[in-house]
Order: sequence, then structure tokens, then C-alpha cells
Amino acid sequence: MKFGHFDDKNREYVITNPQTPWPWINYLGNEDFFSLISNTAGGYSFYKDAKFRRLTRYRYNNVPMDSGGRYFYIKDEETTWSPGWKPCKTTLDKYECRHGMNYTSIEGVKNGVSAKVLFFVPLKTWAEVQKLTLKNNSSEVKKLKIFSFTEWCLWNAAADMENFQRNFSTGEVEIEGSVIYHKTEYKERRDHYAYYSVNVPIKGFDTDRETFFGLYNGFDEPQVVAEGNPTNTVAHGWSPIASHCIEVKLQPGESKDFVFVLGYVENAEDEKWESKGIINKTKAKETIARFDTAEKVVAAFDDLKKYWDNLLSIYNVNSGDDKLDRMVNIWNQYQCMITFCFSRSASYFESGIGRGMGFRDSNQDLIGFVHQIPERARERIIDIASTQFQDGGCYHQYQPLTKKGNNDIGGGFNDDPMWLILGTISYLKESGDFTVLDEMVPFDNDVTVARTLFDHLTVSFDHVVNNLGPHGLPLIGRADWNDCLNLNCFSNDPNESFQTTENKSEGTKAESLMIAGLFVIYGRDYIELCKKMGKSDEANRAQKEVDSMIVAVKQYGWDGEWFIRAYDYYGRKIGSEENEEGKIFIESNGWCTMAGIGKEEGLCEKALDSVKERMDTEFGIVLNNPAFTKYYIEYGEISSYPAGYKENAGIFCHNNPWIMIGETEIGRGDQAWEYYRKICPSYLEDISELHKTEPYVYAQMVAGKDSFKPGEAKNSWLTGTASWNFYAISQFILGIQPDYDGLKINPCIPTKWDGFEITRKFRGATYQIKVENPNHVSKGVAKVTIDGNLYKSNVLPLFKEGTTHSIVVELG
Ligand code: GLC
Ligand code: GLC
Repeated sequence: MKFGHFDDKNREYVITNPQTPWPWINYLGNEDFFSLISNTAGGYSFYKDAKFRRLTRYRYNNVPMDSGGRYFYIKDEETTWSPGWKPCKTTLDKYECRHGMNYTSIEGVKNGVSAKVLFFVPLKTWAEVQKLTLKNNSSEVKKLKIFSFTEWCLWNAAADMENFQRNFSTGEVEIEGSVIYHKTEYKERRDHYAYYSVNVPIKGFDTDRETFFGLYNGFDEPQVVAEGNPTNTVAHGWSPIASHCIEVKLQPGESKDFVFVLGYVENAEDEKWESKGIINKTKAKETIARFDTAEKVVAAFDDLKKYWDNLLSIYNVNSGDDKLDRMVNIWNQYQCMITFCFSRSASYFESGIGRGMGFRDSNQDLIGFVHQIPERARERIIDIASTQFQDGGCYHQYQPLTKKGNNDIGGGFNDDPMWLILGTISYLKESGDFTVLDEMVPFDNDVTVARTLFDHLTVSFDHVVNNLGPHGLPLIGRADWNDCLNLNCFSNDPNESFQTTENKSEGTKAESLMIAGLFVIYGRDYIELCKKMGKSDEANRAQKEVDSMIVAVKQYGWDGEWFIRAYDYYGRKIGSEENEEGKIFIESNGWCTMAGIGKEEGLCEKALDSVKERMDTEFGIVLNNPAFTKYYIEYGEISSYPAGYKENAGIFCHNNPWIMIGETEIGRGDQAWEYYRKICPSYLEDISELHKTEPYVYAQMVAGKDSFKPGEAKNSWLTGTASWNFYAISQFILGIQPDYDGLKINPCIPTKWDGFEITRKFRGATYQIKVENPNHVSKGVAKVTIDGNLYKSNVLPLFKEGTTHSIVVELG
């Protein structure tokens, strides 16, 4: 069952039934100011950091679901309704929500009145703009009252939910004209306030929540709206809100626009006040003035559209399959921008207070984003590397506002350092900017111990080399990519965190085959980089380490039909035929086959066949099999989940592309494609009622075959799935790979395909590539022509900036 449809021309998903199986959300803003918005206008806004600078309040996991947002109540005689259906839930004559690239527009129609709200954060602006258009389609004069609504969060989203003995006494607002200012804590240490404005005179306002709703009413029945009169309350403590009331008279056929601005301001210490107790409003007024007419808003909206036209023109495929094209050209790239901005911090599954930017997560997010805005990727790499420790280890997470590592989680995840090599290499290959390697980058944010970024890569590489276990394989530490494989945790206390507890790590033999594969792949990249930089001694040294890792994997990591997953604390195998449960895992088989370890001896093919046989399902590949059915203290969190969920045999979409890429390594394009299609959201639109999350973005997990409801997704948006799937489809299946000195073309496609076309902008030139598949093969480039001339290699050269070239690639 579908709840809407794709509109590819406008790059929108159009929701036509507000009662989606779960709130289907979108993100506004992509630099400093952000909002989450659901298809019924639920959600919240924040500046940079969803924990420390939350502007508006939101209640996660509430009853009913998705409570709180920016709401409009339209009072038309005795009927009160909202354009987004919620919160009033009055049956609408028409409802339509269009989620687009960093904007959402929601239209409701009731009793001849149409209300359409366009929500977006203009470029370079610290505000969410809301343009409400009311139109009278009836033959009578309409006299309406409009009440806006938003609820302020007292900045620190964690304290906001906890410290009520204080919070209920701190709230402060100011009202001037049609603008409501939220200034809680401004008089002490904060240099910021928020505001909510409208560009017309108002009949009145309310800022006290209790008065607006009535203490025992929900969002659906505000008392003030029911009575039809704003009461001009000025909040003192309790829960400050912002609500404007506007009276509108519309002749038949007439339409009117109203512009609301929800913004954020920072003032320097000596510019905080206009007079005693009265905040300096200059900056707020400047922003409000930039959007005080509908025309100005439309112009800013056009700029945002152009910005996305440009970003999405860099990689564009025409395959003849709409479902594929819309993912590659629009939604997957868009999701990569979102994961780049948010890492794992704020979604409808991530509360914005739990996790900041992940070291491994943000590096992986880069690989799907770097082609869009390489300069921002560059800055991110430096931020991430600055949280590394001198021995190559690193903070697992850092806070976007302070850019400092999070002490509450700390470090000790032994895969983390290697991802920095991935992030950096991806940036280098996209941009060709080697100067980044000379940037002086602090350790643990301490500039007195800064070293070059290249040195950071060296310590990353050596962190693995210096932490090898008894089989010469990498020690796992607290966990590797799989946060739930906690082999030194040994916790029988439910109050301990699986991630941060190491009750038993002294003398551990716990080793990871996943890190081994990771090390071989990015170790090779490191070697290649050293060679490019003329550091041949370092390249030779590193080569020896990589070679011995390969030997160790073959000797101790092969189980006969697949790669084992790990060795536990005692040195016993995990992910082996010997085990009763968890005999085979996806991660080590993905990484070791991507690395091509034992390819000549047929190990990769065997391993991938085993993956297919034991872990493939209708909805994707599960993480392990058989699922764990009891708690194994020596394995940790993985066995805490019920069978079929999350890391315990869920379909963890993030690592399905590792298998796809592994398949392309051995040339099996049909198989790689089948795996791609199974988890790709646009192919799942028809089963939305089962899949549950948005059909336009990937979810982290789909329930696996052992679960209660196989095929049901959870945790959409903020997942490494976005970048890895884009990486797999764009670089390994469609096969367009940025390289140091050119663009490598190496597709691995389904044999039945006749070919496809791609436009790729790379280092300033445009490559118009036509791939032809006359012999219906999967892989192998037989012939290349550039602008009609035969070319010797499948690595296309760099071209002069601004030029366009037409390339024909024949597979065979
Ligand atoms: C979550 C984490 C990621 C981890 C994965 C597997 O998605 O964000 O860092 O690798 O789970 O446990
Ligand atoms: C849990 C989740 C995992 C996530 C981790 C982050 O372990 O299962 O996916 O990465 O929490 O702390």
C-alpha cells in the first residue's frame, strides 16, 4: 500500500494520506540552522547542535505519536482545522505534503479554503521561514482567524526534559509588534535568543502555554483558539510558547500570503542589551526584514532550488529505470547530505541528545557526500582528526558545537582510526587537493601537540599494528564497527553500558576479522598514498604489515566455507561452523571479500556463496545466522536483542553494500544488483504499510527473518546505509570511480542491461558517459572512446576546467 508518490521532476515525495505508518519526515537547513519536519508539521528546530541549542520543544515517543511542532490553527466559523491535519485532526477535503530538497510544503483544504505552508531554511540564514498562503475557493466571503503555534525549548534539550524544579521558573519572553522573543537565560550566560515573527499586524498573541491550551487539553484543542480570542499572555516561567493571532478576510477567489520567521540570534557580550532588561533586537529585525514579503521569500526559495540543482548535477544517471534513477540522482544523494550534517544526532529515532558526531560514522558519511561539496568534507576531516589521540586511538564521538570529544563514551573502538584513512582518501581522490595532508591538526584538540594530517593517517594505521592479538589479527577493543560485539564487556549488571564497560580486558584474546579486512583495504590505500608522496620507506614498511595481515586472515580467519567473525576473550572462534548460534556474520565476509583476500584460491566466491545461502532473505541480508536466542555474557549487547532485530540478525542495511561491493569484486553483477534492489527504499514503496518508514530514504535496520515482523524498518535517515549504498551503486555497480589522476570507469551491472548514461562533473570538467553492453556481460571494459577517438585505458584523463567531453564505454 502506498501513502503518496514520487514526483521526480520536482524532486519531491508527495504524501497524500496524512496517516502514514510512521511520521515521514524531512530536514530543513544544511549548514548552521536546522529543523526536522514531519508530514504533519511536527518536529523541532536547533542551531548547530540538537542537544545544546534546541530552539523548540519536541516530545519523543509520545502519545499520540509526533506531538509538537510548528502548527497553524485555522478557525472558520465553528470549524477549526490545521493544514497538516495534525494537531486538530479535522477531516480535510484535501491534504498534500511535499517533501523536497531541504523544504517541505503542506497544503490542507477545508470548506472552500486552501491553506498552503512552505517551510524552509534559506541559505546562509539562521531561521526557518514559513510562508502561509490562504486562498478562498468558495463563493462566499470568508472571515478567518489564524493562530500560529510553537513551543520554546529551554536551550539544553537534556536539561529541558529533566530539571523541572528550575525550568518552571526560568522562562522569559518579550513581545514587540508582531514578534515574540524567547530570552530565557539570556540575562546570565547565554549570548543568544530566539524569535518568532509574522509580517503583518496581529490581533494579539499568547506566550503562556497553560493559558493557550488549558492545563488539561492536548495540542488538538487549544482553549484560546476555541474561544477565538488571544489573551496577550506574557510568560513568566512555566512553559513559554509563541502564538500569533491574525484576522483575515478573504473575498471569493482571493488569496493572501503571510510570512512567519522562526529565528536565532547571537549577540556579543557588549551588544546584548538595548536597555536594561530589553534585548538588542537589531539582528532579528535584519533577518525579519529580509523575508518581509512573499516575493522575497520566493526569491530565497529559488536560490535554495538552484543550490540543489547544482549539487545534484554532479552525478546523474539515466538508466531507464525510474526507481533507480530517482534514488541515485535525488534521494540517496540528498540523504547523504543529511547524514553528513547530522551524523547520528537528530532524527525521529535519534533524540538529538544521545549522540553527537561519530568518528567512524562521520568518516563513512563523507564517502557519499564528498563530491557534492569537497570543501566542507575537508573541514570535517580536520574536525574529526582533531579529536584523535596521539597513539592513533580516538574519541568515539564529538559534539558539533564544541567540536570536543565526548568523555562519557570515550574511546577504545579499535576500528575507528582506520576510517580516517577512508575519509581522507575519498576527499583526495575527489578533489586532488593534497595540501590537506600538510594541515597541522591537533590531537585531542590540543594545538600544542598538532601534527600534519598525514601524520594522523600514520598513527591511525599504526594503531592497528600496535594492537594485534595472539593470531596477529587486530584486537577489537570495546567493539569494532559492530557496536554490539562487546567481547571484553562481560556485564551482568543492567545498569552498565555495553559500549563503555570493559570488565575484562586484561589479557584479552578478542580479535576482529572485520578490522582485519578494513586494515587490508585502507592499508593498501595508505601505501598507495605514501608512494604518491615519494615516501617509499614508509610504503614498504606498511606493505609488510598489510601482507602479514593477509597471511593471518588466511591462516586463522578462514572457516572452510566463509570468513569467521572474531575471536572472543578466551581465543575461541565467533562466526564459525563450530558455534551453535552466530555461525556466520556479514561484516567479516564483506570486508575480507571487498579486500579480495584469497580471491585467487576461490575464498571470496565461497564466502559470498555462503552469505547468500545462509543470510540472504526477501528483504536483504541479515547480519548473522543463526540469530542468538540467549544472552552470551562473553559477546555482549549483540545477544541482548531479540532474534531478528538490530545487530542480532536484523537486516542491518549499512553493511549490505559491503556484500554488493564484494560481489562486484568477483564480477557478479546480477547478484550485486539483486542485493541493491532488495533494500533500496524506492523499490519498497508498494509495501509501505509493512516497511513503515519513508520510501525515499534508507533505514538503518529492517527486521530480519527471525523477527516477529520481517520487512519492518526502523531508524530511518541517520545511518551509514546512505553513504555506503550510494558508494556501492555509484562507484561499484555503475562503476564511476574518482581516482587521483582521472575518472576510472569500471561498472559491474546486471547482464540483461543494455547500458546506461551518466553525467559526472569531476575536477571542473563534465564527463558525459555512455556505457554500452552489447554482449550482455557484467564486467570488463572492452573499448573506450573520448570525443570519438579511441582511448587506451578505462581511467579517463583529467580535462580542462569548464570543458565537456563525450565518452563511450563498451563492456565486453
Ligand atoms: C550504529 C552506529 C554505528 C555502528 C552501527 C553498528 O549505526 O551509529 O557507528 O557502526 O550502529 O553497530
Ligand atoms: C546500540 C545500537 C547500535 C548503536 C549503539 C550506539 O548498541 O544497537 O546500533 O550503534 O547503540 O551507542
